[in-house]
Amino acid sequence: MNTGALLTTASAARMRAYAPYSGNLVGAALLTEEGAIITGANIENASYGITTCAERVAIMTAVHAGHQKFKSIAVFSDNSPPVTPCGACRQVLWELAGNIEVIMGNCNNEETKIMPLQDLLPEPYGINKWIGNSPDQKLLGKEEMWRLPVLFHPIGYTANNYHEPGMIPENYKELLSQVIINPEMEDGLYRLEEEERINIISYLHLAGGYRLKDRARGRGNEVYGVFACRTPLRPNSIAQTTVQLVDRKGNILTVKGLDLINRTPVLDIKTVLPGR
Ligand code: THU
Repeated sequence: MNTGALLTTASAARMRAYAPYSGNLVGAALLTEEGAIITGANIENASYGITTCAERVAIMTAVHAGHQKFKSIAVFSDNSPPVTPCGACRQVLWELAGNIEVIMGNCNNEETKIMPLQDLLPEPYGINKWIGNSPDQKLLGKEEMWRLPVLFHPIGYTANNYHEPGMIPENYKELLSQVIINPEMEDGLYRLEEEERINIISYLHLAGGYRLKDRARGRGNEVYGVFACRTPLRPNSIAQTTVQLVDRKGNILTVKGLDLINRTPVLDIKTVLPGR
């Protein structure tokens, strides 16, 4: 993971900021030691002072998702020079992440600045050494952990001309799309070209809201349970499409029969069991 890629992720995270008061949208992307990326964006409030900055949203999301060791954080905004984390964020980052690398950037690559957190906060309050121990986790309640939200990281995305859900042509089964896999994961595609058909598991990032029972379009508009049909409006917006694999060139797959719009995040690829 290079600096540019982490900053690009922060710039995408920025689009989920809630900043109606300042209009200053800030995105953050935190890289863990295992290579996971957890993002954040600033979330403001009418009571201005209780606004939370992008960096704290990212680190708190990460800690609650179970991450404990971090390498760097990228902060992206429209400001020139790029914003540096505020004092509160420096303190929180220091305690939870230690002396990570802080990458500060905007649209102009030449203004990117990289500093160790220690240089931004030479005299932190209280805990000044990262111990690395996880807090004492009580076994109590462990059996309820299945309720916790699950965080996925897309392995790639789709590429075609269908730019919104209404634009998927009726004859999509005959049409070609591409699936672009993160180049760092290309080895995971080794021998995929031996398959005629593959399953694409994706996240329907534009789908929102669902009903447990609703009319199912593909089933003559009759009422079915959400788990008894393939409606895109589901509690978790996950889709599974079986497509024909036409070609693979490195990390780029050409597939036939994809019913997903352009830039849909792809979560996984799996082979189809023989006989299915
Ligand atoms: N802000 C951040 O999210 N991160 C920073 O590093 C600096 C400031 C946000 C907080 C507030 O929503 C807005 O920027 C104020 O300009």
